[in-house]
Amino acid sequence: MAIIGKEITSAEELEKHFKEHSVAEFFKKNMQMLGLTGKIRTLTTIIHEYVTNSIDACEDAKILPEIEIRITELAPLHYEVMTKDNGPGLTKSTVGRALGKLLAGTKFHRLIQSRGQQGIGASGVTMLSQITTGQPIKVLTGNGKETFACEISIDVRKNEPKITNFQDLKKEYRGTIIRARFKDVKYVKSEQGPLEYLRRTAIANPHATIKFIAPNNEKFVFRRSIQQIPAKPKEVKPHPKGITVDELITLAKHTKAKKVVSFLKSDFDRMGEKAINEISKLVSFDLNKDPKQLRWHEAEELVKAFKKVNFIAPRTDTLRPIGKERIEKAIKAIVQPEFLAVVTRAPQVYKGGFPFQVEVAIAYGGKAGKVINGQKKIEIMRFANRVPLLFDAGGCAITKAVNSIDWKRYNIKDIENTPLTIFVNLISVFVPYTSAGKQAISEEEEIIEELRLGLMDCARKISKFIAGKQREYERKMKKETFFKYIPEVAKSLHKVTKNDYESIKRKLERLVLERLRLEEKEVEENEKKGKAA
Ligand SMILES: Nc1ncnc2c1ncn2[C@@H]1O[C@H](COP(=O)(O)OP(=O)(O)OP(=O)(O)O)[C@@H](O)[C@H]1O
Ligand SMILES: [Mg+2]
Repeated sequence: MAIIGKEITSAEELEKHFKEHSVAEFFKKNMQMLGLTGKIRTLTTIIHEYVTNSIDACEDAKILPEIEIRITELAPLHYEVMTKDNGPGLTKSTVGRALGKLLAGTKFHRLIQSRGQQGIGASGVTMLSQITTGQPIKVLTGNGKETFACEISIDVRKNEPKITNFQDLKKEYRGTIIRARFKDVKYVKSEQGPLEYLRRTAIANPHATIKFIAPNNEKFVFRRSIQQIPAKPKEVKPHPKGITVDELITLAKHTKAKKVVSFLKSDFDRMGEKAINEISKLVSFDLNKDPKQLRWHEAEELVKAFKKVNFIAPRTDTLRPIGKERIEKAIKAIVQPEFLAVVTRAPQVYKGGFPFQVEVAIAYGGKAGKVINGQKKIEIMRFANRVPLLFDAGGCAITKAVNSIDWKRYNIKDIENTPLTIFVNLISVFVPYTSAGKQAISEEEEIIEELRLGLMDCARKISKFIAGKQREYERKMKKETFFKYIPEVAKSLHKVTKNDYESIKRKLERLVLERLRLEEKEVEENEKKGKAA
């Protein structure tokens, strides 16, 4: 019944208007929340979703990632994207849900350091293909046991996958190939385009080989500089200090434990006998109760009790940083700087319960920085769990931390116009993104503090290098100035003393060089004294 334009003036009218919607319908209306907005950003986000999934899948299966991406222009603002990986592949029963159902996947329900964490990346992209071209995506996947191809689209009303043109293939293949078409997107070779995204992915993932064929057929290969697969991050249970009442109720509903006491022991990190004892004294109900029957006010009592009990800090050995040497190797290969400082900080915890760790590198000179209108400028590369963040820089904790540093104290007078590449990787079992588009990190106090400490640590090292360079420059200028006047002075001295002109000139040159050497020695000694003090 058409009810458009009719005002809702009664509860009965309201009932007629009342409808429920699936999560797919919600995101179809709000694609911008997934970062699928703007012609350029959308294409980069598509690449990002496929590439992060491929690397995650390879790492999970302990495979060195070999990834190929091809973007083909079919017509203006109409492109085909092909991604191919050598990962574990998908099965007939998971392929539909993995690529054609929103909020489905292997990562959302786990606290583990991975690139994806929501279960909407790949399926969001399938939906975009569907709503801009009316076409399903094409998949070919093999998992060692079976190889098959199919087309996938989403039944948006139900948020269910629709599989068509299914074909069992007789060849053996391991990996996944996805081909999808999109309209109203645009390929550019800019700082926010797919090529830069892949360059940065290669820097943070030196164990991956990434091949890229651009729409003009230009080919790029980022070869792995590290042959080892990174150690697998470990999954952690939630720490009691980081849990909210609502999360506690959700966990209690899904637990296999039959009593609250065993639920606490089995589903939380750092929950020992002593803590349980203390908790039992702080709550008004019996901990032998069935967790599925836990009421809201009882969960509230538990969370309050958690705040009072002294738990051991959350496990932080579950994180897997890229590591100082690997970052050094990767940046040297791609940025080729004159000087590089790298720091991997010790793991910390934010919001009382989530382990995180910060890695910072500052590269100076060489190909560091970016060129704008022929002028070298600072370049800030932000990463979360090794994934480049190219958008929403203004609202990101990393940018705020960089801007909060007093760079002049570190011999960097004009940070904006210095040839620096600042690399920051934040890793966590749960990255606090500001939105589902996963491009900016929220300003958690503990994270900002660690970022600042890491940046300042690197800045100190760079500062010494820059000071040394400045001194070298000043010495060179001094030498040039003195040497300019030496022939004049030697000529005059020769006239007065009648001594040999050439020998006077040589002696004066020696005198200048000796003087400059003494000055340098003095600076070095002062520096040593400063260090000892
Ligand atoms: N190339 C691939 N190889 C193997 N499995 C894959 C691949 N791509 C996706 N998957 C599976 O499909 C699931 C859904 O992917 P999707 O990108 O939608 O969500 P996610 O990666 O879990 O989280 P996020 O929304 O943050 O990206 C993944 O969790 C993974 O299990
Ligand atoms: Mg994903």
